[in-house]
Amino acid sequence: MQFVFATNNPNKLKEVQELLPNSIKLLSLKDINCFEEIAETGQTLQENALIKAKYIYEKYGYNCFSDDTGLEVEILNNEPGVYSARYAGETTNSENNMQKLLSNLKNKTNRNAQFRTSIALIIKGKEYLFEGVCKGEILTKKQGKKGFGYDPIFKPKGFSKSFAEMNSLEKGAISHRGKALEKLIAFLLNKID
Ligand code: IMP
Repeated sequence: MQFVFATNNPNKLKEVQELLPNSIKLLSLKDINCFEEIAETGQTLQENALIKAKYIYEKYGYNCFSDDTGLEVEILNNEPGVYSARYAGETTNSENNMQKLLSNLKNKTNRNAQFRTSIALIIKGKEYLFEGVCKGEILTKKQGKKGFGYDPIFKPKGFSKSFAEMNSLEKGAISHRGKALEKLIAFLLNKID
C-alpha cells in the first residue's frame, strides 16, 4: 500500500517513516512534485489535518494522510492548541514560540501540558480520523538539542528527559504522533489483510 504523507516537515517525515512497517510505502509531497504551502485555516486540529489530506487527494489523486499537532497547556486554557505553530506571530519560529510560552509560564507552578495529534486519512475518497495524546509538563528552560518545535521544553510524564533529549525512536514510542500513528497502522494493516 502506498500513501502520501502530506507534510513539508522533514523531521515529521523521518519520525513517521521509522514507525511504519515495510508493507506501507510512504511518498512525501516532494515525491509527488507538490511544493505548495497548504493553508491551515481550520478551527481544530482535526479540521486542519482533513484540509491537508483532502487537498492532496483531490488535486493529485493519491491516497493520503496528514497530521496536525497542538500543545495544550492546562493553566493557559489549553493554549496554544491549534495555534501552536503561530503562537508568537504569523511568521515566527520555534525558538520564539518556546520563549513566549516560557515567559507566559514564568513563576507558574502548574506546568501540566499535553501534545495532541490528529491524523486524517483519505482512501478512495473516504475519510478516517485518528488521535494520540502525550501528557507531560513544560520545563522552566530548554533541555536537549534533538527533535523540533517545542521538544526542548516538553518533558513527557514518567520520564526524566525532555523530548529533545530522546532519539526519534524513543520519542515515537511514547509520543502523541506515535500513538496516533499506531492507530492508523493497525487500521491499515487490517485493511490490507
Ligand atoms: P504542525 O502539526 O506541524 O502544524 O505543528 C504545530 C506546531 O507544533 C509547530 O510549532 C510544531 O513545531 C509543533 N510540533 C508539532 N509536533 C511536535 C512535536 O512532536 N514536538 C514538538 N513540537 C511539535
